[in-house]
Amino acid sequence: MDSKREVLSVNGLRTSFFTDGGIVPAVDGITFGLREGEILGIVGESGCGKSVTSLSIMGLVPNPPGKVTGGEILYGGRDLTKLPERQMRKVRGNDIAMIFQEPMTSLNPLFTIGNQMMEALLIHTKLGKRKARERAVEMLRLVGLPRAEEMMDDYPHQLSGGMRQRVMIAMALVCEPNILIADEPTTALDVTIQAQILKLMKDLNDRLNTAVLLITHDLGVVAETCERVLVMYAGQIVEEGPVEDIFNDPQHPYTEGLLKSVPDMRFKQERLVPIQGNVPRPGSIKHGCRFAARCPYVFDRCTAEDPDLYGTPSGQRARCFLRDGKEAAAHDEALVES
Ligand SMILES: Nc1ncnc2c1ncn2[C@@H]1O[C@H](COP(=O)(O)OP(=O)(O)OP(=O)(O)O)[C@@H](O)[C@H]1O
Ligand SMILES: [Mg+2]
Repeated sequence: MDSKREVLSVNGLRTSFFTDGGIVPAVDGITFGLREGEILGIVGESGCGKSVTSLSIMGLVPNPPGKVTGGEILYGGRDLTKLPERQMRKVRGNDIAMIFQEPMTSLNPLFTIGNQMMEALLIHTKLGKRKARERAVEMLRLVGLPRAEEMMDDYPHQLSGGMRQRVMIAMALVCEPNILIADEPTTALDVTIQAQILKLMKDLNDRLNTAVLLITHDLGVVAETCERVLVMYAGQIVEEGPVEDIFNDPQHPYTEGLLKSVPDMRFKQERLVPIQGNVPRPGSIKHGCRFAARCPYVFDRCTAEDPDLYGTPSGQRARCFLRDGKEAAAHDEALVES
């Protein structure tokens, strides 16, 4: 199963926010690998720690109040959590690029779009000025900005939110990074542009073997774009596996709930069933499974012990006692009897 090399390995990562209201363990011990050339999806409801995971990888967790408090992030033989900021800046330019959920935070309001695109190209590629300009304009067109030539002289505030988002995407892609982290890259965009951007990311992935970590609420996007998927809940990974398997046979009740709560793009469905209740505040559940209060299958053990990620015969992994050998057998038996 793990035949492909991991280009990024996240081991036991913990990131917390130290606020007046207490410590918020936003990412609470997650472990996963991003494999060479794959598109890996991360899904989960709002507040489950998707953005904090990607900011941790990029070394951009706002500090204070946030801090990586444990674990490691291995890239190219180095632990990114221990890298000095000066070297981390190089990694961000050359190796790992990110498309942010909040586009305005990463464009400099004082420089033109052209300036910022060119700077990235001149620093990180061997292109001369003229070629770099051509490249920048071409990239802006590719992300669906037809006025690309004129736009080079615009300042960020002169563009609409959707345009700025596309400029951000162009900037992330133009230097052809080894790893692209895309945090809800298309949510704010209309459907045609969305499809265009996803295609662009797929092309980059095909052509240059760029590994992509794609964070999205949209399970349809995951089904179309990703090979594997991680399901996050309350700061933890609760299920992981190949997209096909997870969609056809979810192993965690939360994943099952997510799939039931969206209009299904593949199997016919009578109606939408939202998951009952809300995501718990990080750190508010001290014992047991974090999904127990919302789980239709909850039983005694769920509130008493913390479940591990249990492997399943299909190669998925799920943080649910129902997948723990003995329990799983008993549960399946009960199902057969009923
Ligand atoms: N600067 C901050 N200070 C305090 N808590 C924070 C801060 N940033 C994030 N958090 C907390 O960390 C948790 C995870 O947030 P995160 O932004 O990673 O969620 P998400 O999964 O990306 O959600 P969404 O789908 O809405 O983007 C949340 O409970 C959030 O309140
Ligand atoms: Mg987010």
